[in-house]
Amino acid sequence: MNTSGEQRGPSLYVAMLSAVAALGGLLFGYDTAVIAGAIGFLRSHFSLDAASTGWAASSALLGCLIGAGIAGLTADRLGRKKALLLAAVLYTVSGVWSAIPSTIAEFSCARILGGIGIGTASVVCPLYIAEIAPAGRRGRLVTFNQLAIVIGILVVYFVNYFIAGLGDAAWNERTGWRWMFGSAAAPAAVFFFLTLLIPESPRWLLQRGRREEAQRTLERVGGGPGAEGELRAISDALADEPVSSAGLLKGGLRKALVIAAGLAILQQVTGINVFMYYTPEIFKQLGSGTDTALLETISVGGMNLLFTLVALRVVDRFGRKPLMIIGASGMALAHAGLGLAAYNNLLGAWVLILVLGFIAFFAMSLGPVVWLIIAEVFPTRVRGRGMAIATLLLWGTNYIVSQTFPMLNEHPWLVATFRHAFPFMLYGSLCAFTVLFVSIVVPETRGKSLEEIEKLWKPEGSRA
Ligand code: BGC
Repeated sequence: MNTSGEQRGPSLYVAMLSAVAALGGLLFGYDTAVIAGAIGFLRSHFSLDAASTGWAASSALLGCLIGAGIAGLTADRLGRKKALLLAAVLYTVSGVWSAIPSTIAEFSCARILGGIGIGTASVVCPLYIAEIAPAGRRGRLVTFNQLAIVIGILVVYFVNYFIAGLGDAAWNERTGWRWMFGSAAAPAAVFFFLTLLIPESPRWLLQRGRREEAQRTLERVGGGPGAEGELRAISDALADEPVSSAGLLKGGLRKALVIAAGLAILQQVTGINVFMYYTPEIFKQLGSGTDTALLETISVGGMNLLFTLVALRVVDRFGRKPLMIIGASGMALAHAGLGLAAYNNLLGAWVLILVLGFIAFFAMSLGPVVWLIIAEVFPTRVRGRGMAIATLLLWGTNYIVSQTFPMLNEHPWLVATFRHAFPFMLYGSLCAFTVLFVSIVVPETRGKSLEEIEKLWKPEGSRA
């Protein structure tokens, strides 16, 4: 039986399926980051005050929460493929609609719709990849998704930059921002058509009793001989007691939920998106001129991409835990350095080095590995719902951290006491806590089949 990942050699077919699903991740990065380059023009076009600007910028995030909330049910009931198609339709409609609104309310509705697509994709893309991937290459293939998110962020940055260069400020306020949002519709349509061509997840098919179809897909992704054994292992796991959503709170499964939810929250409280969303401001505050802030922002995106590639190479070789422990330790040290710099007003090039160091450690660890663990710890019967809960917490925490950063950074008492070091001290301590959490609570899942991981949550005596 070949369930422990002995399959060798790159399977082009699995890589292609993963790449199609990862397009959903690319659009996740693209659609969340597009706002950064467009918000200024949008603000002028609709003459927005601060509160409406904030709402215009964060409306997609509301959609993400809704999308992640419903993704589990959609993926469990309709299937993984239909859920991906739904995300693709939402991305496409939102891309077109957010380019042509005549009021800001209409724009926000279009962005909420797109956000539902992002939220759905953020659950279903890694889920689909984890379910079609052979155990030995699962880490690497799910990391494709994170790679795609990071590429999406970088690409939209350049697209925005290119579009902004096509006209003067007046043109950008009138038309440029429309192209920025509209540009997402083309890759979204490609995602839709390619998704029509991929097979449904074999694990979901088996759960629905569609054995022959499941076997055919398993043979193609696993290379043939291992498929029969894998089919049996999945059926055995599915034959266990059905689990309701409430069952996630009981017994061994509670542990899976604590691990996934804990990591989802911890990934965000490390402050990653403070750097993603506020980088130019942070650089300016820590001493850079406006002109260099642009270049520094590009280097953040480049570093993120480079070290995600490192993770891709090592995640199935070194394992998930060592990567997260090294990564979170490095991130804690980078925050300590930034805190010291902010406290002592020591500004200059090494601030950039610390920020880039932080990004590198995140990109090789918590960035991809948290999504991977969320996708692999839940049993097939509740994977959609379990992932949705963890992802919902991830988006909710993202929202809280990015909303509270300016308050923490500018609070008079905190500034008087810690200068601008407080946020870095806080996020740094939470990175240190992450090291403890991973060391104590998270088991190593490298090389295990999803069914073997499932057995980790059973009481000792009943493990087959
Ligand atoms: C996180 C996102 C973040 C991105 C940055 C992802 O793993 O979930 O919140 O923006 O990494 O690369």
